[in-house]
Amino acid sequence: MSDNNFYITTPIYYPSGKPHMGHAYSSIIADIFARFKRIEKNNVMFLTGTDEHGQKIEREAQKNLKKPKEFCDEISLKFKDLTKTLNLSNDDFIRTTEKRHHKAVNEIWNRLVNSKDIYLSKYSGWYSVSDEAYYSDDEVDTKNNLKISKISGSKVEWVEEESFFFKLSSWQSKLLKHYESNPDFILPKSRKNEVVEFVKSGLKDLSVSRTSFTWGIPVPKNKKHVIYVWLDALTNYLSALNFPDEKNVKYKNFWPANIHVIGKDILRFHAVYWPAFLMAAKIPLPKRIYGHGWILSDEKKMSKSLGNILDPLDIIKKYGIDQLRYYLIKEVSLGNDGSISLKSLKDCINNDLANNFGNLCQRVITFVEKNCNSCIPNCKKFFKEDQIIFESIIKKVPELKKLIDKQELNQYMKEVINFSFEANKYFNDLKPWDLKKDNIERMNAVIYTILNQIKSISILLYPVIPGSSEKILNCLGVDKMDFNIDCLLDTNYLKMGYKIKKPGILFKKIEDDN
Ligand code: ME8
Ligand code: MG
Repeated sequence: MSDNNFYITTPIYYPSGKPHMGHAYSSIIADIFARFKRIEKNNVMFLTGTDEHGQKIEREAQKNLKKPKEFCDEISLKFKDLTKTLNLSNDDFIRTTEKRHHKAVNEIWNRLVNSKDIYLSKYSGWYSVSDEAYYSDDEVDTKNNLKISKISGSKVEWVEEESFFFKLSSWQSKLLKHYESNPDFILPKSRKNEVVEFVKSGLKDLSVSRTSFTWGIPVPKNKKHVIYVWLDALTNYLSALNFPDEKNVKYKNFWPANIHVIGKDILRFHAVYWPAFLMAAKIPLPKRIYGHGWILSDEKKMSKSLGNILDPLDIIKKYGIDQLRYYLIKEVSLGNDGSISLKSLKDCINNDLANNFGNLCQRVITFVEKNCNSCIPNCKKFFKEDQIIFESIIKKVPELKKLIDKQELNQYMKEVINFSFEANKYFNDLKPWDLKKDNIERMNAVIYTILNQIKSISILLYPVIPGSSEKILNCLGVDKMDFNIDCLLDTNYLKMGYKIKKPGILFKKIEDDN
C-alpha cells in the first residue's frame, strides 16, 4: 500500500492530580513509535491530551475549592508542560473541554441514536468514580467493609439513576468476528486473549449517560443527562482530526488510527466499547490497540502511602530526559509489568549509555580531534572488515522496521545496543592508534568507518534519545533534515573533511552517592 500516513495516540490523561511516571511512560512509548515512523519518512500525526469531564474531576475540583474548568485549566497545563519536558514530538494536544471536541461527541451521540443503538432506561448497580467505570455484582468484592472492584481494586459505590443505554450486547458477535479476522487488532497477544474471554462471557448493555451530576457534555435534546465520560473521552481520537468533517484532510489522511497506545488498565474501554461505538456509528475501526504493562516501583504499585513514587520531573532534573527515556524502554519489557528503581536507573545509565554508547562516541571523537585535525578523514579504500561492520547494520534494517511495526521495542533495543558493542570492538581490534604510526591511509578508513557506525546508531537511537542523538549527529555535520533511514543506509552523508564540533559530555557517569 502506498499510504504512508501514520496516526498514533496516547491515552488522554485525567487532570485530577499531577502527572506521574505512568503517564510519562505511555507518552514516551508513543513518542518513540511516532519518531521512528518519521525517520522512515511517513507523514505522522501524534496526539496526546487531557480527559477533563466526569465525576472524578468534578469531585477533585470541589475538594480543591475550584470550579471544574478552572481546576482543569491548571492541571491540564502541567500535562502540556510535561510534553515539553519529555521532549515529545506530539502534533496536537487535545482537551475534552474544547469546542472542537464537543462537536465530535455530539455527532457520535446522534449517530448512535439514529442507528437505534441507544435507549432510555434506569441504571442500578456499582460505579467506581476513580475508574469512571460500571461494575457488575460478580466484579465486586468486600474488603474491610468497603466495596471494591475486583478488577482494579478501586472503591465502588451504588448508583441508581435514569440513564441512556448503548446496546453493547448486540455487538458481541461482530466484535468477536473482528478480533478473529484481525489477529493483531489487540496486542500483545496475552491482552487479546483477555479481551476475547471477556467478550465471549457475554456483554451487557452499557450505561452511557449520567444524571446525578452535571460536569460533562449534555446529551443532545435532553439536558438532564451528561454523556458518559468514556464515550466522551474516546471520541477525542476523532475530534483532533476535525471529525465530523469527513472531507477534512486530517480526517482523510489519518483515520483510521494506526495505533492507540494505552495501559492495560483501560483495555476494555478501547478494545470493546470503542470498536462497538465506532461500528454502530459506521466509522472504520483503528488498526491496533496496544496495551502496555504496569510500571511498578520496587516490585510494588507506586503509591503515596508506600512512599515509593518516582517523580519523573525529579529524575529528569537530576539525570536527564534521555536517560529516563532510555531506561524506561530498555528496562521494562513493553507488554509486561516492570519494576523500576533508582538503583537500576543508575546502573542502566552507567552501563549502557556512559560506558557503552557514550564512551564509543567520546573516544572516537577525541581521537579525531587529536589525530585527524578534528576533521572527518578523507579515504578511498575500505577493507573487508570495514564492509562487514557497515553491512551488519544495513542488513538488519528491514528486521528492525518489522520489530517496530510489531511494537517489539525491547528486541529493537537489544539489536541497537549490540551495534554499539560491535563498534567498540572494531575500534579496539583495529587499533587506529597503532595505524597512526605507519599507515595513515588505513587509519583514516577505520576512523571513517567507525564515524559512520556512530552516525547510524545515533539515527537508530534517535526515536529513543532524541536530544543526545541530535547532539551527536549535529557534531558530525548531519543535517536535521537527514535524520532518517536513507541517511543510515548511505555513507555519503558523512562529509569527508568536515570539521567535527565537540559534543561536550553526552552521558555523565553517575557516582554511588548521586
Ligand atoms: O484512564 N504504569 O486516564 P489516567 C504504566 N482518562 N502506565 C500507567 C501507570 C503505571 N503505573 N499509571 C498510569 C485514564 N499509566 C483516562 C484515559 S483515553 C480515551 C482516557 C498510564 O490519567 C497508562 O497509559 O488514569 C494508563 O492507561 C493511563 O496512564 C491512565 O491514565
Ligand atoms: Mg487511572
